[in-house]
Amino acid sequence: MEVLVITLFILITLIYVYYKNSFQYWDKKGITTVEPSFPFGNLGSAFFGKGFVLKFTSLYKELKEEGAKYGGLYAGTTPIFLPIDPEIIKNILCKDFQYFHSRGSSFDEKKEPLQANLFNFEGKKWKECRIKSTPTFSSGKMKMMFHTVLDCGKQLEEFLHSCHKQQKPLDIKEIMACFTTDVIGSCAFGVECDSFKNPKAQFRKYGRKALTPSFKFQIRRILTMISPFLVKFLRIHFVEKDVVDFFIGVIRDVVNYRLTKNVTRNDFLQILIDTEKEENSTSTIEQLAAQAFVFFIAGFETSSTVMTFALYELAHHQDIQDRLRKEIIESIQKNGSLTYEGIHEMKYLDQVVNETIRKYPTLHTFKRLCVEDYKLDNNHILEKGTKIFISILGLHRDEEYFPNPDLFNPERFSEENKSKILPYTYLPFGEGPRNCIGLRFGLMQTKVGLCILLGNYKIFPHHSVKYPIEFDNKAATLAGKGTILLTTEKI
Ligand code: HEM
Repeated sequence: MEVLVITLFILITLIYVYYKNSFQYWDKKGITTVEPSFPFGNLGSAFFGKGFVLKFTSLYKELKEEGAKYGGLYAGTTPIFLPIDPEIIKNILCKDFQYFHSRGSSFDEKKEPLQANLFNFEGKKWKECRIKSTPTFSSGKMKMMFHTVLDCGKQLEEFLHSCHKQQKPLDIKEIMACFTTDVIGSCAFGVECDSFKNPKAQFRKYGRKALTPSFKFQIRRILTMISPFLVKFLRIHFVEKDVVDFFIGVIRDVVNYRLTKNVTRNDFLQILIDTEKEENSTSTIEQLAAQAFVFFIAGFETSSTVMTFALYELAHHQDIQDRLRKEIIESIQKNGSLTYEGIHEMKYLDQVVNETIRKYPTLHTFKRLCVEDYKLDNNHILEKGTKIFISILGLHRDEEYFPNPDLFNPERFSEENKSKILPYTYLPFGEGPRNCIGLRFGLMQTKVGLCILLGNYKIFPHHSVKYPIEFDNKAATLAGKGTILLTTEKI
């Protein structure tokens, strides 16, 4: 018994000393910090309660109120650097990119083949992959894929029609997720997903599974912050095995079909296949699947949540909705239908989408890793291996850059006003060489979805819907909590 008590005492003392010492990291560097606590550092309430979204936003606010240009935080005992000043953010994302080309993703390529993708790569591998993928998103290719997006839009239209006929409110989150699943499934995998006709459709099922934060996902998220080593050691994978098998299986079938039958199609996968052929490259099916998978994962939920938030705000702002609808109907009348050019000509639509991703940036916080010691200023060095978090939601809801930040006001992005926005304070797609590669495609499908819905219906909040929205603490991206229902009136 005595031995046990002594062992326990020594253990607790060692842990205490370890934590005390670790929590002095930023103080020793003379960098402003927020008082951490045992055992999760500054992120205790992020893991249990507040969620990451609000936690990072409040840490951003706290540091800003202290007048800090940047601050040091702790995830467990791991130091995290949070830049506040837009000039420092610019240096990290653009000017001194060579020090910050990694997101610090840790994965085992052999055991997690779908994670070996553009989002997670770093250094030379990332650069090669980015160069190879860039032509996939040129405006010419976007125009080519516009018709595929419209085809999926027809199914959205039919579904909206059937809901309206049955006087059913629209479960807007699910409907928009089905639409973007169909679009990206079709464009990235060349597969008709049929998410509307068949709610149990495979793509929707596995897409949902890949992104629904399971208990395992939460544990991995906590451990990734605290100790990536433990994640590897305990072999906790981000994506479940059946999801991996499904996506690799689909790519194998589609690639084999196209190559043996000499079939081609206007989609991302075809561009990947053609590039492989042109460059005499020998990528495996797993490598092709990983790129298609990242387009799917990065592309379907981001755009569907942007549409959901836009419709949620428009349902609460009938004046903005009416003005936008007028523009949509005029464009359709002028061009005879919804066209690629029409979508890009609509100025107010652009303002509404820009304001939506200002108020609700789907990737609310994004990461970089410092890969070489970096001189922040004359007094401070950021050490190699330091993790960097940039709070986009913090910037986008900062009173100094966006007065009355909780107000949904598309006028912030009018021709006259948008030039007044301070650079590096508005970052819905990131910035610099590692910004969102699918930006054009994301905007295109978002705008098509909004035009189809608003061109046909007036929307109103269902009585169950509250304003302002409550965020889902557990979601990996910014999302509203629970079901969001809207009622419709046919025009
Ligand atoms: C409105 C929809 C979208 C939003 C708001 C969005 C936002 C973002 C953001 C904030 C980043 C991180 C940027 C950074 O770290 O600097 C990112 C990266 C990325 N996005 Fe998007 N995205 C959207 C749609 C898409 C689509 C449709 C695709 C593909 C089809 C896509 C593919 C990617 C990829 C591959 C990366 C990683 C790029 C790299 O590391 O080189 N995104 N996105």
